[in-house]
Amino acid sequence: MNFEYFTPTKVVFGKGAESRAGELIREQGGHKVLIHYGGGSVVRSGLLDKVCASLKNEGLPYVTLGGVVPNPRLSKVREGIQLCREENVDFLLAVGGGSVIDSTKAIGYGLANEGDVWDFYDYKRKAAGCAPIGAVLTIAAAGSEMSDSSVITNENGWVKRGYSSNYCRCRFAVMDPELTITLPDYQTQSGCVDIMMHTMGRYFHQDGGMELTDGIAVALIRTVMKNAKILKENPSDYDARAEVMWASSLSHNGLTGCGTDGGDWASHQIEHELGGMFDVAHGAGLAAVWGSWARYVYQECPERFASFARQVFDLDEADGGGQTAASPDASLALAGIEAMEDFYRSVGMPTSLKELGIDPTEEQILEMADKCSIHGGRTVGVIKKLNAEDVAQIYRMAKG
Ligand code: NZQ
Ligand code: ZN
Repeated sequence: MNFEYFTPTKVVFGKGAESRAGELIREQGGHKVLIHYGGGSVVRSGLLDKVCASLKNEGLPYVTLGGVVPNPRLSKVREGIQLCREENVDFLLAVGGGSVIDSTKAIGYGLANEGDVWDFYDYKRKAAGCAPIGAVLTIAAAGSEMSDSSVITNENGWVKRGYSSNYCRCRFAVMDPELTITLPDYQTQSGCVDIMMHTMGRYFHQDGGMELTDGIAVALIRTVMKNAKILKENPSDYDARAEVMWASSLSHNGLTGCGTDGGDWASHQIEHELGGMFDVAHGAGLAAVWGSWARYVYQECPERFASFARQVFDLDEADGGGQTAASPDASLALAGIEAMEDFYRSVGMPTSLKELGIDPTEEQILEMADKCSIHGGRTVGVIKKLNAEDVAQIYRMAKG
């Protein structure tokens, strides 16, 4: 299929790269900076001090705003917009993970557009711009450092929504794999799942496809699986951190979707409701629902799921154990789904909502399904277009 590939983010990768933050902001023409960060990991690690020193070296004035939480909140975004207006900030620097970068992107939209920033996330209107943003990444996961999207949770109703446009793409991304060594194992592994899922979301498409795109996707997924296991044993392995960090960006900058219809994002949309209602870690939530989504839809294109089993896990027809499956492809498809769940378990990730630590009631399931379908106004996914009842059924299957 025809495609556009647009990745305007300058990547500065490697040990000590964070010391170049000030120089990179200067290069982009920033004069007054907001440094936005999360719950304190960057304070404890000393990274915030290093970044501030780098800005001071360049003579760049700045203000700081911390307190972004995972599943970042709209109220913090509003606080950031107000602060930036009062302080005449013209460049935004995110120091953190996907949540901090997404909050920064939302502040950027708020600064560059009139009216309520939530309108964009509520699909009421489109943004006409975004203030310039740079990122110093501290966790390999969401891929927000090179992606066109940001995901914000509105506390009013606990609705979690994503908004995508090229305006919010980071001008630069500083990626020092050493910064991720302080991550708790659960966050490392949750990040690895998210990275894989950004490529799997694109791999499971309904239309188009290129051999080269598939090859990149498979190499990326296999590399992340291999290095997630290494990091489980040795969290300080720099090379493994580097592999995973670069995969995080490549997985969500569009590269693994070139020549396809864009892929199937139903698992992501189903998970976002879990994040909004139960505040779970995004990647862990994805691991908990992916198998149920896959079993619900695989019969729509068993051959694609069979290719996945072959290419990612080296399985062949002899491994397809499901005698009840409708065809050899369907049998192999099921074997591939099981292999992926085995991998999740091997790195301590959940494969059910119970293992994720939540037990939604039927009423909560129906509420999440309703929100996911935007009150019946949309379906999610392309392999099988899922309405609210389909989504509710997947939550029920995932309960465990
Ligand atoms: O807040 P602090 O104290 O920094 O702690 C964070 C947070 O608790 C901690 N952490 C981050 N770097 C660390 C560290 N702890 C120790 N050492 C470090 N170096 O890790 C926790 C999780 O951080 P968060 O930023 O929430 O993680 P992630 O990057 O996984 O981002 C998740 C958010 O991104 C959204 C998700 O929905 C979720 O809200 N996504 C954004 C996307 C995008 N913009 O393109 C795409 C994704 O699919 C995803 O939906
Ligand atoms: Zn994700």
